[in-house]
Amino acid sequence: MKHYASIQDISDIHSWIKEARKIKENPLKDKKLGKHKTLGLLFFNSSLRTRLSTQKAALNLGMDTIVMNVYEDAWGIEFENGSIMNGTTAEHIKEAAAVVSQYCDVIAVRAFPTLKDKEKDEREQVLNAFIKYASVPIINMESATSHPLQGLTDAITIAENTTKKRPKVVLSWAPHVKALPHAVANSFVEAMQKMDVDFVITNPEEYNLDKRITKNTTIMHDQKEAFKNADFVYAKNWSSYDDYGQIVKTDLDWMITKEKIGDAKFMHCLPVRRNVVVEDAVLDSENSLVIQQANNRTFAAQLVLKKIVEDL
Ligand code: CP
Repeated sequence: MKHYASIQDISDIHSWIKEARKIKENPLKDKKLGKHKTLGLLFFNSSLRTRLSTQKAALNLGMDTIVMNVYEDAWGIEFENGSIMNGTTAEHIKEAAAVVSQYCDVIAVRAFPTLKDKEKDEREQVLNAFIKYASVPIINMESATSHPLQGLTDAITIAENTTKKRPKVVLSWAPHVKALPHAVANSFVEAMQKMDVDFVITNPEEYNLDKRITKNTTIMHDQKEAFKNADFVYAKNWSSYDDYGQIVKTDLDWMITKEKIGDAKFMHCLPVRRNVVVEDAVLDSENSLVIQQANNRTFAAQLVLKKIVEDL
């Protein structure tokens, strides 16, 4: 595999899940595969899970890692072509990506959306610039519109926990105090569309996701109705897509409660705001899978890295 930029780069999700679960059984089996190979991790935004689990995955494969918080530690990078660089940016992505490629065999990038400029966000300016100007494979560690390492992790976690051949999975919008990106929700939707699950999205009418992502997935605006017979409830906040990046309505009634989800397993990518997105009673119950999800981030990343390093 060359790049891992989106869930659409997964050739066969069922075989990938099987392979990831094998890695989880024996994470150090391929300890020699990445010897003398370096993974560079570039963060334009904060992270706890992605930063640590992706490094852990690389270490499990015997790779070395280099990490940089780009905004804090590097020169300001210019992404526009033909710009006269007499402002705050000191280095063009053409040089920056080419230079980092001299030090790293694989580059992983996290760059969130502006949530102000829809066209620029959908163009995936940062991720696509690295894909274009770096000479090594690129891994998306959450871009403007997708978080494919998280989506793969979530698919693995559902496969591990299901007791049914075709479980009912519900993605529910939940309240939040900040305007958040659509990336996690988009990649979860795309992953579920590849799985053998009865998949439903529930959100207030004002928070419909991009129709090009949801396609023909059922969308319900009645959360209670959507939760009926659910085996898995995945909570996530996202800002408005139509009124791009705005909090158009703070509907606290959409918080996930134990009463609402009954015996369904609860999922969230984390970090999560307790008693805003979901009540304590859910997160502290045996039905919460959030820590297992976070653990699976390592094995999703390890599978992706393994496929890339095998093709170097
Ligand atoms: N779920 C997730 O991507 O977590 P971080 O933002 O902490 O990396």
